Amino acid sequence: MHVVLSIGGSAVVPDGKPNIKFLKELASAIRASKNDFGIVVGGGPPARTYAGAVRELGAGEFDADQIAIMSTKQNAKLLLAALKGIAPADVAHGFEKARELAARHKVVVMGGTIPGITTDTDSVLLAEAIGAKRLVNVSNVTGIYDSDPKKNPGAKKIDTLGYDALISLAMASDKRVAGTNFVFDLLACKLIARSKIETHFVGWKSMDDLKAAMEGKRHGGTVVR
Ligand code: UTP
Repeated sequence: MHVVLSIGGSAVVPDGKPNIKFLKELASAIRASKNDFGIVVGGGPPARTYAGAVRELGAGEFDADQIAIMSTKQNAKLLLAALKGIAPADVAHGFEKARELAARHKVVVMGGTIPGITTDTDSVLLAEAIGAKRLVNVSNVTGIYDSDPKKNPGAKKIDTLGYDALISLAMASDKRVAGTNFVFDLLACKLIARSKIETHFVGWKSMDDLKAAMEGKRHGGTVVR
């Protein structure tokens, strides 16, 4: 069975320095699992640094996204180094290539694809392409809360919620000021709903939660189904 992992760039490169311990532990968990995996790696701080730099040099948003996509692929290549022997040596550039490689390898790894979207959306599209019915989003955020925990100290974590409730939360957060993005972008939320992909939200600092989510077991994050 294929499981898709969306690994936030902020887990792979927190504060701009590659997180070797996390990469090794993630690779071990993948090796130990009976499942096959499609993985999309995010850009994190390097993507933001490079996008900001090209903007300062006069580039527009298309070019800012393009350079950020390069960071996602660089982070994907880092994870691939830890997956030697169970994944192809190179990052899959695009969904068709990923699907082709997924048929022959335990693990296939991608970064971003086209400007204008995020790796949240890429991960759902990869799940659709390879027929994965479970997706695990691994990021700084340990689950979905009933309000923004950064603004509301009383915000409560939700154990399980439906697709429509997730879409409502994502739409509400779309109105927030820049920099307070919701944990999963709106398009990605709509895509998991249309394909009924069970989606788990866990924080990267808990390897136990991550492992449980990979196997579809209970964990300390949030499940959307
Ligand atoms: P991410 O999806 O990684 O965003 O893509 P992020 O918010 O930095 O997520 P974390 O920190 O990894 O969790 C980084 C940037 O790359 C561009 C966008 O500019 C995005 O904000 N990108 C990514 C694309 O343009 N297209 C893609 O398919 C993926």
